[in-house]
Amino acid sequence: MATTALPGTHTFGHAMLSHWPLDPSITYLNHGTVGVVPHRVLAVQQAIRDEIERQPARFLIRELADVGQWPLREAPKMRTAAAAVAAFVRSAPEDLLFVENATTGCNAVLRSFPFAAGDEILLTDHGYGAITHAAHYAASRAGATVKSLELPYPGTTPAAIVRSIEAALTSRTRLLIVDHVCSGSSLILPVAEIAALCRARGVATLVDGAHVPGALPLDIQAIGVDFYTGNLHKWAMSPRPLALLWAAPNRRADLHPTVISWGYEKGLAAEFDMLGTRDPSPALAAPEGLAFLRELGLDAMREWNHRLAWDAASSLAARWGVEVPAPEAMYGSMVTIPLDPRFGAEPAEIEALRSALLYEDRIEAQLFTFRERAWLRLAAQVYNERADYERLREALDRRVR
Ligand SMILES: Cc1ncc(COP(=O)(O)O)c(C=O)c1O
Repeated sequence: MATTALPGTHTFGHAMLSHWPLDPSITYLNHGTVGVVPHRVLAVQQAIRDEIERQPARFLIRELADVGQWPLREAPKMRTAAAAVAAFVRSAPEDLLFVENATTGCNAVLRSFPFAAGDEILLTDHGYGAITHAAHYAASRAGATVKSLELPYPGTTPAAIVRSIEAALTSRTRLLIVDHVCSGSSLILPVAEIAALCRARGVATLVDGAHVPGALPLDIQAIGVDFYTGNLHKWAMSPRPLALLWAAPNRRADLHPTVISWGYEKGLAAEFDMLGTRDPSPALAAPEGLAFLRELGLDAMREWNHRLAWDAASSLAARWGVEVPAPEAMYGSMVTIPLDPRFGAEPAEIEALRSALLYEDRIEAQLFTFRERAWLRLAAQVYNERADYERLREALDRRVR
């Protein structure tokens, strides 16, 4: 794909690299892992930090959050930023909570949820390892258990995923944790159907949407979940670290941040907006990331990213004689395929290959092992173009045994 002129002000492809601080000698095919913050968002963040330092106590104690200790002269800055993000994901402004990252969002839910002895948390083998750890920790404190479901994969469909979850629910299941976009497999899961199913069975849902804000259209209230968390620093161009957390009305009374501070029992916004002295600049600069996305054109960006990742993955899969594991509609800006089988599937071999790509070929790509196979996750962002994936293919060709 050559660079293309869009109706907006931007030309996608390598010309876009000037908007990010990325080292131009690196082929960066891993936007999903920790995001990459655009220059203009970093500049706004720095301006906010400079403003804080002009009068830090006033900014951090009297302007940032309303914890009911004294009247604020202006709207709390955290709420103004939250309102901008809320509009982007169709939440009511007061219901949009900031947390540091998706891990913290999931921990807040898991550590607050009223589990009882004998309860079961259901999660899937496509879930993110850190969240699985958090589920085990929360379960162990309450005498509850964790059950991990093996999703039908590869050769999967949305209907097959829903059926497998339905079959795994039991009378003891209290909470299902499911990814909206799976970290390893890149699959977009049918979270609205899954949530409807769980609601009908009296099971709460926590959706881990770490890869969703910015990457996919999101209408948080419409999905019908109990809890939703998603990173803003991956695909929504906010500074790191920043994520959102949302809870359904009937779940808000029990929810608390993992850190209890001055906002305790003064409402969810107060509880989450004030967690002691810390750097609020990622949250306050988040609206700039969203402005950048809108300027790129959300539909144009998503279409470019999907097409690039899908075309690269399907052409590599055809070359290696492997199948793309799911239909095209189950992928957004990332597609994961089995790696050329000639590379083997030993975790140490795959890690060595990944390091060689990174340190010798200067290609940042996500390689991992799962279910005794090696996999390659290809991410695409508007600064990528087809030549990047060709560089990866050539580097892999040189290294194959
Ligand atoms: C599905 C999923 N959940 C959670 C996380 C954790 O994100 P963070 O480290 O920002 O908390 C990731 C990170 O890639 C992820 O892919």
